[in-house]
Amino acid sequence: MKNTALITGASSGIGRELAWVHAENGGDLVLVARRGEVLEELKQQIMEIHDVEVVCIAIDLTEPGAVKQVYDQLEADDIEVEYLINNAGFGNLGPFYQHDWETDGGMIQLNVSVLCEMTHRFLPGMIGRKRGRILNIGSTAGFLPGPTMAVYFASKAYVLSFSQAIAEEVARFGVTVTVLCPGPVETEFFDRAHAKEVGMFKKAAGARKVAEIGYRSMNDGRLVVFNEWRLWFLLNWVTPWVPRQTLLKISRWLLAG
Ligand SMILES: NC(=O)c1ccc[n+]([C@@H]2O[C@H](COP(=O)([O-])OP(=O)(O)OC[C@H]3O[C@@H](n4cnc5c(N)ncnc54)[C@H](OP(=O)(O)O)[C@@H]3O)[C@@H](O)[C@H]2O)c1
Repeated sequence: MKNTALITGASSGIGRELAWVHAENGGDLVLVARRGEVLEELKQQIMEIHDVEVVCIAIDLTEPGAVKQVYDQLEADDIEVEYLINNAGFGNLGPFYQHDWETDGGMIQLNVSVLCEMTHRFLPGMIGRKRGRILNIGSTAGFLPGPTMAVYFASKAYVLSFSQAIAEEVARFGVTVTVLCPGPVETEFFDRAHAKEVGMFKKAAGARKVAEIGYRSMNDGRLVVFNEWRLWFLLNWVTPWVPRQTLLKISRWLLAG
């Protein structure tokens, strides 16, 4: 396989669109998600149009040993991952004290641990080849605390911090790390997060546009990117000056509305 991108969460939303964008650029694909039949369908659709190879791995990445299983399978098949796109993730709306731990624990596992372990396993190969690009899907949620989405916002703060630190560590080896921080995007995310009724999520961007921005930014080796300049301005130049208590109230109000 050539110019291979491994995309987690490729069965829907931003991950699915990233798969299309990479195929349009002539790159081969390793698609990972739980819904194997959806991945196989996507593989057929992509291969009908583009002259690329596609491998599907249907797996629940939160299961113990799952990331290693993916890594070992690709090693055994001699597939080099040139682009690692850590996209799989989910959220859950509601007061933290009312959430069941299986959901929030699983969220930390997927949004934080899986992303971290994938990076840990695939980075050494990239460093050895002195070439590689990592795109982590963070969120604007990573820039502030989110009352009623506390674990999700905190998980994205982890992604933001981790990605920047790793980017600095590996820059000298010719490997880049980009963290894409979208605002609301029209995907299956809100269904799974029980957040369809939240007003601020109703003005959502298209997944294709967001994927294009993320993909381009990854190839340009950019560090932290947003899908809208307004979000960039707000989160870099306004919210850092707002007192924490006030920011918490605003964040809570936005998530309740
Ligand atoms: N939508 C937004 O407003 C928004 C905004 C900012 C950031 N993001 C981030 O963007 C990323 C993609 O989300 P999306 O909006 O595209 O949502 P989505 O349509 O729900 O896609 C999530 C993807 O993750 C996969 N996934 C979920 N649990 C998994 C597991 N245990 N093992 C393997 N794969 C799993 C899903 O596939 P299966 O169900 O087939 O496993 C699906 O392909 C997430 O990290 C999300 O936090 C989203």
